[in-house]
Amino acid sequence: MNILLLGSGGREHALAWKMTQSHHCDQLYIAPGNAGTAAFGTNLAISLTDFDAIKDACMNYQINMLVVGPEEPLVKGIYDFFQADPSLNHIIVVGPSKAAAQLEGSKAFSKKFMQRHGIPTAAYAEFTADSIEEGRIYIQEHALPIVLKADGLAAGKGVVIAATTEEALACFDEMILGKQFGAASEKVVIESFLQGIEVSVFALTNGEAYHIIGHAKDYKRIGEGDTGLNTGGMGCVSPVPFMDAAFMQKTEEKIIRPTVEGLAKEGLEYHGFIFFGLMNMGGEPYVIEYNCRLGDPETEVVLPRLQTDLVALFAAMDNGTLEDANISFDERSAATIMAVSGGYPGDYAKGKPIELPAASEVPKDTLVFHAGTISSGEQVLTNGGRVLAVTSYGANIAEAVERSKTTLQQISFEGMYFRKDIGFEFPC
Ligand code: AMP
Ligand code: GLY
Repeated sequence: MNILLLGSGGREHALAWKMTQSHHCDQLYIAPGNAGTAAFGTNLAISLTDFDAIKDACMNYQINMLVVGPEEPLVKGIYDFFQADPSLNHIIVVGPSKAAAQLEGSKAFSKKFMQRHGIPTAAYAEFTADSIEEGRIYIQEHALPIVLKADGLAAGKGVVIAATTEEALACFDEMILGKQFGAASEKVVIESFLQGIEVSVFALTNGEAYHIIGHAKDYKRIGEGDTGLNTGGMGCVSPVPFMDAAFMQKTEEKIIRPTVEGLAKEGLEYHGFIFFGLMNMGGEPYVIEYNCRLGDPETEVVLPRLQTDLVALFAAMDNGTLEDANISFDERSAATIMAVSGGYPGDYAKGKPIELPAASEVPKDTLVFHAGTISSGEQVLTNGGRVLAVTSYGANIAEAVERSKTTLQQISFEGMYFRKDIGFEFPC
């Protein structure tokens, strides 16, 4: 099978690494990819949202399967684009339809969906410019902290947890009147703050059957001890010690199954990953968010632990045999640590040369996934805020983290920063 993978992050490097282990994968193409993905296939200089150029690539390279990494092409309807085109509709697309991708593309849609299907989540209300006065009153009467969310995609920046009513009111006005996120914040979801520990669970579904393919805990803040600004994710660990059989069972019964059944009942076509962003509140799971894709850097620990052939799973998803697939996991723990550019998640420089260990110098229990990197002749240069994700296996989380830190000592670029406390709650 010839596969086209869309995306350019650590998630896509991990997908490329995993998919090329499958004997079902003949040629892999990655659009646009990074310096790391080039070792597993051919990078194509195509924009993620240029559907016509993606179509041309599918025709030129006789693509049989399209694997969509990030949310933007999904929310913009790449699945529907492929279904509607007779020259493309034989291609297996791993990703939901545009209507179903609203689970990520619209917070208001996902909250209403959860309400319709009795899925536990924070209490909420939604407001627009027409209901701004009601919104202000709702905020004034609400307990603190209070959570404000731009309805649409806002590159991970659309959520504010306000500690005071004044801050919440100012953010609310900025989102709606100041059009802080353009059309994405014309509608704002306001919800209660959920206190607990976060965990992300990943399922692959064809809208009928589903399989859990892993879970992970993401460290989102830039600073050690979970301080400072939110980022796309500074590191991840898997498995998470509190994800015991009882919590997993509750998650399946109260969240995953009702979600998949809800999609089917509403005729929302879904052939792809569902990312359940959960809060564990006193042993009870609540949904904080859905995403219609894998997480980054969650993928960099989830896929190394997944022993099942991923391309075979995608084919089973497509041909109705997903239910029969056997999923198995590596018993070891995995941890990934992100090396980021100085200044990230604010402004940062690009184009800094990266010193990397030769493949032979990387220990066998460690994988160096590229994120924001680009090749320039013989050199690899930084090309984004999150630059590399160094994943290691270990007998436990602490050992995996230590191994990644050892390899990070052999990596350098100007301004490089990484958190040294990933997995700090799990010391052994
Ligand atoms: P989201 O984009 O919805 O995932 O929100 C980004 C982050 O904000 C989440 O990963 C949580 O850390 C936090 N967050 C979102 N909603 C809530 C909530 N209702 N209670 C507590 N934290 C939240
Ligand atoms: N690491 C969080 C995400 O991928 O959305």
